[in-house]
Amino acid sequence: MIIVLNFGSQFAHLIARRVRELGVRAEILPFNASLEQIKSLNPEGIVLSGSPASVLGKGSPRPDRGIFNLEIPVLGICYGEQVMAHILGGKVKKGKNREYGKEILDVSSSPLFVGLKKSEIVWFSHGDQVVKMPPGFTIIASTHGCRYAAMANIKRNLFAIQFHPEVTHTVHGKKILSNFLFGICGAKKDWKLGRILPDLEASLREEVGKNHVVVGISGGVDSLVAATLLYKAIGKQLHAVFVDTGLLRKGEVGAVSRSLRKQGFKNLHVIDAQSIFLNRLKGEVNPEEKRKIIGHTFIEVFQATIKKELKKYPITFLAQGTIYPDRIESAEASKNASKIKSHHNLTLPETLSLKILEPLKEFYKDEVRGLGVLLGLPKELLWRHPFPGPGLAVRIVGEITPERLNILREADAVFLSELKSAGEYDKIWQAFAVLLPLRSVGVMGDERTYEYMISLRAVDSVDGMTADWHKIPSQLLERISTRIVGEVRGVNRVLYDITQKPPATIEYE
Ligand code: XMP
Repeated sequence: MIIVLNFGSQFAHLIARRVRELGVRAEILPFNASLEQIKSLNPEGIVLSGSPASVLGKGSPRPDRGIFNLEIPVLGICYGEQVMAHILGGKVKKGKNREYGKEILDVSSSPLFVGLKKSEIVWFSHGDQVVKMPPGFTIIASTHGCRYAAMANIKRNLFAIQFHPEVTHTVHGKKILSNFLFGICGAKKDWKLGRILPDLEASLREEVGKNHVVVGISGGVDSLVAATLLYKAIGKQLHAVFVDTGLLRKGEVGAVSRSLRKQGFKNLHVIDAQSIFLNRLKGEVNPEEKRKIIGHTFIEVFQATIKKELKKYPITFLAQGTIYPDRIESAEASKNASKIKSHHNLTLPETLSLKILEPLKEFYKDEVRGLGVLLGLPKELLWRHPFPGPGLAVRIVGEITPERLNILREADAVFLSELKSAGEYDKIWQAFAVLLPLRSVGVMGDERTYEYMISLRAVDSVDGMTADWHKIPSQLLERISTRIVGEVRGVNRVLYDITQKPPATIEYE
């Protein structure tokens, strides 16, 4: 396995994902992980990630310098190069200009660049750069603006590069990582989902023993894969609770329940709680209050179901669809509370006194989808866009009524089906319709209308933290608008949202 020391989380996750795609297990540790912890994992190599910090800045993140003496190959990337140079006796200077974007790299021969051409396109994003190499290092690649674009101490297996091999703009980035993993570290190619799945099932069986497990189905990908995996591992000892809040998309409860039942899964409790949620939300217009009402009601309904419908089973575990980045981020967030996202969903309370089981805690989203495929789940369910916990409640601005929910569900279904049939859906990170509680005048046939507006939102993003509006072809937009106004009663105007995040958020509330 390979350890990725994390100096700034987005970069580290991307590196770890690439390493895993190449078939080697990668684990992320905080930059200041102790030597003992690193040694105990017995890694074949260590990668130092990039970072938004500057090594010249006060209190900038530093690894334990002992990592360079473990006789384990190290690859420093961007900030990782600078921190390696700085610690080992080289010099880093503030750059006059930021170098950002594609550059041509002149490559010398070295184990890191086996199979590359003399000239390669790579992607940079840095301000500082190394101006003096540490003793024992030689230059292995340069660009016009960056003399030490790559350097190495071949004897000690220390490599450092200023560009980013983990991004797709670096044309042969994967080859560079592969040279490091297999040529330099001698890692084995054994991180394959098909190989991991049987061991995972066996370890879940062992952890659960003769006990029973309850899992909440949200309609999202993670809980669906977690439930299917657990069902395969422990069969009848698994009980799933799917709370129909009335705030889900059109056809969602049916599609998800059908696919679980198709696996032979019988202990699925679909709880129709629509009227409870609607009653409690009546008259509420404040977004944060809506979220609170939904969160608390959800917990109440879930708890009541366990007490009533599952009381005859020895339920000891609550399974959750936590995935690898959630786990790393919550560990980091607990150290740095200001970074916690304000809308993290409520977790089920400790009063349930159940042990937590997290079958997907080792996997990235694309791996979770890969497991879903191996488990026989349909592609339409596995590649759906993210959907917020409070559901359609945050996509109806203002008060939620059954009429508004119906209008929104129908408009959203038209929007998504048109995106799918035009082949646009898979290019978009998240797309949905929003109901604006404003009525405007229109004319249909000979009659004047006075009806709601639907706003369409479709965004490109990597992690939802920033987003750009997706450029849907105008003919497709026209077809969507014509269909919504023609088919969804109660709507006479369709808008397309062209705001970036920031300043706007993706959702409307
Ligand atoms: P915003 O609206 O904050 O959304 O730009 C960023 C991403 O987070 C999702 N989102 C939520 N997810 N509970 C969730 O589980 C929430 O309360 C919530 N609010 C926003 C949103 O769909 C987008 O993907």
